[in-house]
Amino acid sequence: MEAVMLVGGQGTRLRPLTLTTPKPMLPVANYPCTAHQIVRARDAGVTRIILSTSYKAEVFEAYFGNGQDFGIEIVYVTEDSPLGTGGAIRNVADALHSAPNDPVLILNGDILSGHNMKQQVQQHVQRDADVSLHLINVDDPRPFGLVPTDADGRVIQFLEKPQTPEEIVTHQINAGCYVFKRSVIDSIPNGRVVSVERETFPGLLDTKAPVIGYIEDAYWLDLGNPLAFAQGSRDLVEGRCPSSLVEKPGEVMAAPTAKISATAKVFGGSAIGEQVSVGESAKVEGSVLMAGSHVGANSTLIDCVIGENVSIGEHVTLTSVVVADGASIGDHNELIAGARVWPNTEIETRSLRFSAE
Ligand code: GDD
Ligand code: MG
Repeated sequence: MEAVMLVGGQGTRLRPLTLTTPKPMLPVANYPCTAHQIVRARDAGVTRIILSTSYKAEVFEAYFGNGQDFGIEIVYVTEDSPLGTGGAIRNVADALHSAPNDPVLILNGDILSGHNMKQQVQQHVQRDADVSLHLINVDDPRPFGLVPTDADGRVIQFLEKPQTPEEIVTHQINAGCYVFKRSVIDSIPNGRVVSVERETFPGLLDTKAPVIGYIEDAYWLDLGNPLAFAQGSRDLVEGRCPSSLVEKPGEVMAAPTAKISATAKVFGGSAIGEQVSVGESAKVEGSVLMAGSHVGANSTLIDCVIGENVSIGEHVTLTSVVVADGASIGDHNELIAGARVWPNTEIETRSLRFSAE
């Protein structure tokens, strides 16, 4: 079976991390979130996946190559300018080998999902649907696409990002994993911007096409903001979100080249990337430390996302802070929770000269 993964979004809400790396390539549990989803698709029977790229397209091929290391064939289709989610799906049609009636799996590239993709495809085929959508229930549906279904599981309506309380007709939302009949992909208008959520799905419903929900409340997380991103990484490391890239879930996942001082405490589902060093008596809890970063002695990091080649001095305290690539934070700093440090910023060491007086 073939799959298409949409990875062309700008990831604006994840700035400043996405200024240097596209969102789907940011590491959760030491692998890009796309890698976890690609491997799940492979485990569900997908043998060939097309990455639909736009923003920072070159980064994907440099990492995944032809997919050999991940046990799947990976092909790339890049848009000259972003075509939107539906336009992006249509744009890969020439690269698909599937026959008109074959099911094609379509995945948003910025989510983590533990649902049973194989079962979703089986249901789609059994019911001879045009499109089926993985649906889940969430407490706050406002940032998502609302998808009410009838007693047979047929989709009644598709309401992307409801604006008013009256529009919140259900808490059942689009989880961003679809199965399309290949011929339906070909029917999307070519060469212009199309939103699958605002145009294609409502259009199919207007024509009474068979669009069905695959309802499974499995582990699911939208990696929409930096704190969700740290949460996703913790969930993978600690085993709440299944991924065959995480061999032994536990307190910490450290790359082989990471150097963690014997007196440091690293725990709470932290992910420690290649060439990272953590100094003496430092405490790192529930955080992501990307490749080449350094945490100085006696510093404390809780629920933080630290980009590549970041330098954190000694006696620094950070809680729920995001530090982008190449930044450095001098000794004795304490940043307010929720702070976001831009790439290559230097925050000077805080002088302790006056505090002793
Ligand atoms: N190739 C390409 N071109 N990909 C795109 C483009 C584009 O122009 N625009 C967005 N994408 C990719 C993004 O990288 C992401 O993987 C996916 O398409 C969805 O786009 P987002 O921009 O992340 O949409 P969203 O998070 O606001 O909402 C979508 O996902 C929700 C679930 O997380 C919608 O599908 C909602 O209905 C859904 O509930
Ligand atoms: Mg998204």
